Amino acid sequence: MEDLTDWVPYEKREYTPLGPKDAEVIKRTDIHSAKNYSPYPFVVDAAKGFWLYNMDGHRAVDLLSAYSAVLKHKHQGVIDAVNNELKFGADLVSRALYTRAYADFVEKVCEVTGYDNVLPKSDGGSITDSAVSALFMHGFERGIDEPEVILTTDYFHGRTLTFAANAVFDPDQYYGRYGKVKGVKVVDHNLEAISNAINENTIGIYIETHKGEGGPLFSNKEEFLAIRKLAKEKNIFFGADEIQTGLGRCGYLMAWQEYGKEARPDFVTLGKALGGGIIPVSALVGTEKFMNIYKPGIDGSTHGGYPLACAAACASLKYIIEEDICKTSLELGEYFTKQLNDIPGIKAENRGLLIRLEIEGVETAKPACYEMLLGKHRDPRIFMKYGHKNYARIAPPPGAINKDTIDWLMDKTLRNVLLYAREGPKLPRLISKKIL
Ligand SMILES: Cc1ncc(COP(=O)(O)O)c(C=O)c1O
Repeated sequence: MEDLTDWVPYEKREYTPLGPKDAEVIKRTDIHSAKNYSPYPFVVDAAKGFWLYNMDGHRAVDLLSAYSAVLKHKHQGVIDAVNNELKFGADLVSRALYTRAYADFVEKVCEVTGYDNVLPKSDGGSITDSAVSALFMHGFERGIDEPEVILTTDYFHGRTLTFAANAVFDPDQYYGRYGKVKGVKVVDHNLEAISNAINENTIGIYIETHKGEGGPLFSNKEEFLAIRKLAKEKNIFFGADEIQTGLGRCGYLMAWQEYGKEARPDFVTLGKALGGGIIPVSALVGTEKFMNIYKPGIDGSTHGGYPLACAAACASLKYIIEEDICKTSLELGEYFTKQLNDIPGIKAENRGLLIRLEIEGVETAKPACYEMLLGKHRDPRIFMKYGHKNYARIAPPPGAINKDTIDWLMDKTLRNVLLYAREGPKLPRLISKKIL
């Protein structure tokens, strides 16, 4: 139980770097870096398993590995595969030549996802942009002069002009004030709005299977299937962005698989975990019908499909399957969510090990997230991300944790911080009334 002597609510506390070395790195960074992020003042100097280590001898459990590792940090198999390619394979080779590593990559991605073809890129935004371009190209091929693609408000596909200009995620983004990218239609995320937006120029619908950034928020089977069916009936393409939800995170290799075969999109975008937490790799996978739009020169990038990235992705996919990451995500996700829901004032919902936590009675989960990572004497420290409203996202590396880890995190840090995040100022009263 928290020490209530001189207790200060989290939102009134000041959180500073945990030591002078972190402070020095932060200072150097802030002088020269563009201020396009506002990171927690914690400097990651090394990572292993579920741990992130800072410069000053502190460490924190990574509950936001949705950005990188579904396996674990520094997975030896992935490191070996990349080292091997580095030592014995080709150096950076453009797609002007064939490489063995690229052949392995496309074969493996198609084997694992069940799609026919792959387009490789490095970061997520480049591949989601490619997906929208491919839809436009299909439109032109069908003889539509001004093809339209439907996206949904508040769902995230990256920060390229296509998405920023149309304020898909963030209405305050600068580009949106200048002008929109023609043909990108952004509507509310529901069947009715999507259905109303379809006209004779519509060529496709592209949505996240579950919303990751700002949430997570989860789709429901009926609506997802209805959107899929609608696209089929209207003879337009249906694509799912699984950059955050795919590759075992939600308990399936692609989260849409939870809804059965009939949910299968025409194309899917993958990223983040595809690079094994080591190298940025993204990919657009699709049916032959969708992918046949690609002709030489139509899309591409220097690092898309370069040998080191291919080696990382092949190893990542191999271990995701061998280590049964989907099963672990499903089992541990249920277990973790149940424990969180047992805390008064906390509501949790999950798909596998992608969990949304809501702290009732507060406007934002930000102070609680800061307290977990930077609060005095917190042990273990925990890194997780606050989202919109009072949400926080929990996404531990499935390959590195087990039920004991969850129990330990609950007992030592989570239960305490979350209880007090909601009821902080009222706690002494509740305790004296023996409500807690
Ligand atoms: C669903 C989804 N799509 C696309 C992206 C963009 O990826 P990147 O940040 O690598 O450009 C993200 C990143 O968070 C994402 O979650």
